[in-house]
Amino acid sequence: MSGLKGKVDILIGAQWGDEGKGKVADAMGAEVDVFARYQGGANAGHTVIVDGKKIVFKLLPSGMLYPGKLCVLGNGVVIDPEQFLEEVDDLHQMGRDRARLVISPNAHVVMPYHKIIDSAQEAFRGKKRMIETTGGGLGPCYIDKYARSGIRVDDLLDEARLREAVSTILEEKNRVLTKLYGENPLPLDEVYEPAREWGKALAPYVEDTAALLHESLEKGRHILLEGAQGTLLDIDHGTYPYVTSSSTATAGGFSGTGLPVTCAGRVIAVAKAYMTKLGDGPMPTEDKGEAGEHLRSKGEEFGSVTGRPRRCGWLDMVALRYVARLNGCGAVALMKLDVLSGMDEIKVCVAYDLNGTKTECFSGSSYTLEECRPIFEDIRGWHEDISECATFESLPEAAQNYVRYVEERSGVPVQLISVGPDRNQTINRGL
Ligand code: GDP
Ligand code: IMO
Ligand code: MG
Repeated sequence: MSGLKGKVDILIGAQWGDEGKGKVADAMGAEVDVFARYQGGANAGHTVIVDGKKIVFKLLPSGMLYPGKLCVLGNGVVIDPEQFLEEVDDLHQMGRDRARLVISPNAHVVMPYHKIIDSAQEAFRGKKRMIETTGGGLGPCYIDKYARSGIRVDDLLDEARLREAVSTILEEKNRVLTKLYGENPLPLDEVYEPAREWGKALAPYVEDTAALLHESLEKGRHILLEGAQGTLLDIDHGTYPYVTSSSTATAGGFSGTGLPVTCAGRVIAVAKAYMTKLGDGPMPTEDKGEAGEHLRSKGEEFGSVTGRPRRCGWLDMVALRYVARLNGCGAVALMKLDVLSGMDEIKVCVAYDLNGTKTECFSGSSYTLEECRPIFEDIRGWHEDISECATFESLPEAAQNYVRYVEERSGVPVQLISVGPDRNQTINRGL
């Protein structure tokens, strides 16, 4: 596109989240100028470990530790102001608030009633259709955005407008809270006063982020769009209804920032060498036996936001191929390969058996996916500790073969291999 000299890479989760996106964003960080989140909010938990120090970014982009970089919360993100201020403060206390942080005025704000409604809706859905959300009010906040009943960051900055908006919206919300969910109503001042304070605290960060991103492109900067959650949690393309409420796939990167689609460069799919999932819904390759337990304990598969144990299973190539096609992936970052060490055999799902018929198609319908039985191929494992391996060649032959297998089966080159949580435990093959 004329006038745009920079480049835009998009980092997306290839599974149901927690693939290691934070680590990859951080590992790529030195060569990136601008980190931008485009969807989701504080339901994310992106872990970065530098010099043995662990930092989990929930709302802020994972580039915050790099001095002088620009970190953007785009219009598609939903902002929990308390979480935002807490994360900013924590980084400040650690002396690690080194990047310039900006928030879009068009981003929506998670309000107190969103959190109450989030829990109340889960209770209403009951066991049969419980999503097991992170409870942060994101779903109800996105509902209000599309219903045009939302409060945006921009509204927080104008006291009179804020008071009017809150009092109008609260009238409806209080009816919903009391009459539908049997909750107590929220007094106006209990909602308005904190929101007014948030406005004052957030004001220094609010800028026209779309214009900043366009300027960055014109100046030849390298932008990294950091997806949260994973493609299988995408509101349209994921395993609905067991999904999050935003567009986690590549397409969301443009509506959620204001960047033009024509500037898209590489799409990097972050995938674990196996699969995990938080919450309910179909997961064809789940292993509820010894192997799943090995993956959970060795991979420390417990939610970084909720602490809940993650369901674990084998790599699902049907799902990975679907995700690669959907997002137009040009590279895979294969994470947590070290967790597979110590297994005689590793299973990989190559197709599904759907009521007696073999299929290699991933179904976006949870009901169909629930009926799919995995067809596995067994691959030879390895027992060596690979967490110190710094090159592809230094990996045991069986581990190299596993990586090659993933490349052949997915049709996408594995350009980064992660062999441990630290920034340095990364084998870069051209990312
Ligand atoms: P994200 O949400 O995609 O950023 O992923 P999370 O941070 O929620 O979960 C990934 C977890 O795996 C974090 O605890 C990371 O520190 C850890 N991790 C990342 N890469 C590796 C790896 O290659 N090996 C091991 N053992 N742990 C890793
Ligand atoms: P990161 O960015 C894993 C899951 C929740 C729940 C569903 C909907 O760290 O990969 P929500 O609160 O978004 O309405 O919950 O989505 N979920 C995640 N699972 N990683 C995440 O983020 C997730 N964010 C939401 O567990 O099942
Ligand atoms: Mg996470």
